[in-house]
Amino acid sequence: MLLDLVSTAASASPAPVARELDPGVRIRRIRPSDLELERRFVYGLSARSRYLRLLSARPLQPGELERWTNIDPQREIALVALVNEGGDDEEIGVARCVVEDAGDARWDFAIVIADAWQRRGLGVALLGKLVEAAREHGVRTLSGITLFENRGMVKLARKVGFSVRFEEGDATLLRLELRLDR
Ligand SMILES: CC(C)(COP(=O)(O)OP(=O)(O)OC[C@H]1O[C@@H](n2cnc3c(N)ncnc32)[C@H](O)[C@@H]1OP(=O)(O)O)[C@@H](O)C(=O)NCCC(=O)NCCS
Repeated sequence: MLLDLVSTAASASPAPVARELDPGVRIRRIRPSDLELERRFVYGLSARSRYLRLLSARPLQPGELERWTNIDPQREIALVALVNEGGDDEEIGVARCVVEDAGDARWDFAIVIADAWQRRGLGVALLGKLVEAAREHGVRTLSGITLFENRGMVKLARKVGFSVRFEEGDATLLRLELRLDR
């Protein structure tokens, strides 16, 4: 089971195989004016999804939502997935990456999908778009950590071409990594 879950090399093709995504879903860069959409999205997440995303049950910090929506495009990329419900946009997912080591062009990434939209192919579509945007920006490595038990994230990461290994010195965490310059 362990070997099935963790390997040092990605077992999937680097090209994500996107399932047919709902045609009403739009993906675009986040904007400062998305603050309320982002607030509704984050507070609408289940406790489990929020825990998996933040790796803890911590509450949001003051100013955190503002920082997530008002980003510095030189050092961060954030993409939101939206649907229009009766004339109003609703955020259903967000994927982002931010500089971790500028010298190595190594960026840290994270993704979260609204509970009602999970397991419908949106993760593959959104993470695939983030990888494209990061490559265009000159990012050399996308890297992130996830909990060992986060099977959904591991499967998604593998589908998009990431390698999966244990985080050094911490068997509860997995390190997901994708080289973009090869
Ligand atoms: C992890 C997460 C981003 C996956 O997004 P998603 O939209 O559900 O992923 P997709 O629908 O594109 O699925 C990708 C693959 O993973 C599989 N998968 C998704 N969730 C799964 C789960 N909970 N258990 C097992 N497999 C799962 C899908 O079946 C699919 O594989 P398939 O095409 O062979 O069927 C989403 O579940 C989520 O937001 N979780 C909470 C936050 C989180 O864990 N973030 C990651 C921390 S960085």
